[in-house]
Formats: sequence, structure tokens, C-alpha cells
Amino acid sequence: IKKIAVLTSGGDAPGMNAAIRAVARSCAYYNLDCIGVYRGYQGLIENDFELLTARSVRNVINRGGTFLKSARSKEFRTEEGRKKAYKNLQNSGIDALIVIGGDGTFTGAMKLQEEYNFPVIGIPGTIDNDINGTDYCIGYDTALNTVVEAIDKIRDTASSHNRLFLVEVMGRDAGDIALNSGIGAGAEEILIPEEDKGIEQMLFSLERSRKSGKTSSIIVVAEGEKSGKNIFELAEYIGENLEGYDIRVSVLGHIQRGGAPSCFDRVLASRLGVGAVEALMRGESNVMVGITNRMVTSVDFEVAIKGQRPLDKELRRVLNITTI
Ligand code: F6P
Repeated sequence: IKKIAVLTSGGDAPGMNAAIRAVARSCAYYNLDCIGVYRGYQGLIENDFELLTARSVRNVINRGGTFLKSARSKEFRTEEGRKKAYKNLQNSGIDALIVIGGDGTFTGAMKLQEEYNFPVIGIPGTIDNDINGTDYCIGYDTALNTVVEAIDKIRDTASSHNRLFLVEVMGRDAGDIALNSGIGAGAEEILIPEEDKGIEQMLFSLERSRKSGKTSSIIVVAEGEKSGKNIFELAEYIGENLEGYDIRVSVLGHIQRGGAPSCFDRVLASRLGVGAVEALMRGESNVMVGITNRMVTSVDFEVAIKGQRPLDKELRRVLNITTI
């Protein structure tokens, strides 16, 4: 392998820049050429390439977002689109591709490998933390800290007014952000996609808390939770079924995707960037590099994107105990 391309695709995540930097610097270290592809798979189709030297990635480790930009390319989902992308890779003499993103990104890479036997390695970068075969995805830790900071602020105003707040957080079909930020920010209850405890249970726990002397509460609602009601309908339902609550809704939205990456995410991204280049040099392909039990490991793309990760029952137990 002599020339490696790198791209970021799907929703951006803090720490993606640190991962690109680690890939570019590993290439320089091992005397390989590194090509940055702009706008994910769309840039692959449109030949939007640029040589990345060790110096082109200076001053990016601390920056949120992705300087290579990201996209969710519809064209790459077609055979025609992938053909164009493959031709561009060939014409530029690129031997392998590193993709940084989530399950959609890995699905695209698998197709490229399947159809053209092109070497591909994935790096998990998504705030949702919904990828198998890695304990953490790049961006998740930063997003969690952003959410906890936001809920801390909401708590100030909630407690001043004796209010109940429903706070919606991202995560798509995963409840990692909700469950962990819920514990970290001292939320009263969480609603997550991995379990459907029913709204009645939530009403019960709110009443129990009120009787025990709590005057304000925060409920963290994962955007993918399964009650069948959106967060505003949930607020209305609570208001209709429990008397005397002053309820407000706060949807945190894309603030969760921005900001400078935490040190944890920078270190994770650096390790996985180095790990991805070294995996390609060992001849690995069609795998994602991840962190398991503090070690950099490889797992087949198929495993990485398979199904929903089960709920961490221990965390749920801790939340139940600490909200008494
Ligand atoms: O996958 C990351 C994520 O932020 C999800 O948590 C969320 O559901 C989605 O992307 C939002 O996507 P978009 O930025 O396209 O609105």
C-alpha cells in the first residue's frame, strides 16, 4: 500500500478532525501518501481530493466538526455512483480508503469492497455511540459533556421555578446519550429506545418523587424513544394526568454535535487513526477499528453495524437507585 485516502461521512462528530490528523500523520510516519476526500462519498464521486501532508493537519486536533466536511450522499447508494467513485480512486492511484463515520458510512464502504475488492477500513465517529465492536465512538464523550452542561443550566432555572423539564437529546435509535447524561446530570427519569417502560411508570415515579419532597425534576427523553408521542405530546400528557405541574420542554438539537472535542475523544481519535493505517498495512480490509477493553481491535463491518446494542442494565439500576 502506497497511497491512502480518508473521508468523513454522515453526521459530523467532535474528534473527527483529530482522527483525520492521526491518519495523515501516520501516513507521513510510514512514508505513505495521504489524500483527503472532501464531502464524504460525494467528494469521492466528484473527485474532490487534496493531498494531506503532516503539516496540512496542523491546528485541527482541537477543532469540532470536520474540516474535510461531511455529506450523506444519495448518489453513492447507486451502483453508478460507486462506479464513478471507484474510477476516481483508480485514476488517482489510491490503494485503500479509510472512512470515518457511523453505520451508513460503513455500509457504503462494504459495498465498495464487495463490488471492486477495494481495501477499506472504518473508524467509528458518531455521537450516537451505536456501533458494535467498540466501547466508544469518536464524538460521544464530547456530546455527553455538552448535554450534561446544558442540563445543569436547565436545572438552575427548573429549581428556581419548581418546574418539570423534559429535555430531548439525540442518539437516533440508541439511548446511550440519554441514559448516561441522565445519570450524570441527576435526571429524575429517562426515556430510551431500548426499553419501553410505559408512560404510566414515568407518572408513577414523578408522583413518588413529589411525595418524597422533590420540587423540580428533569426527564431526559431520547429522540428515538418508543412511547409513540413526541416530546411536546408527552409534556401535554403529563400535564393532563398529574395535577399542579408547571412543565417546560427543551430540545437540545444540533448543539450536541458541535464544540471542541474532549481530551477523551482526541485520544480515542488519535489511537483509531493510527490503528486504521496500521491495519491497512497489515493487509486488513472490510473491518472497523475500535477500542475494546482499552485495546485497539478490529471487527468486521457486518458485526459493527448489526442490530441494536442491548441496554446496559447496570446503568439503569444505578439510575433507579440514585433517583430515590
Ligand atoms: O447520527 C448523528 C445524529 O446527530 C443523530 O443523533 C440524529 O438523529 C441525526 O444525526 C440528525 O441528523 P441531521 O444532522 O441530518 O439532522
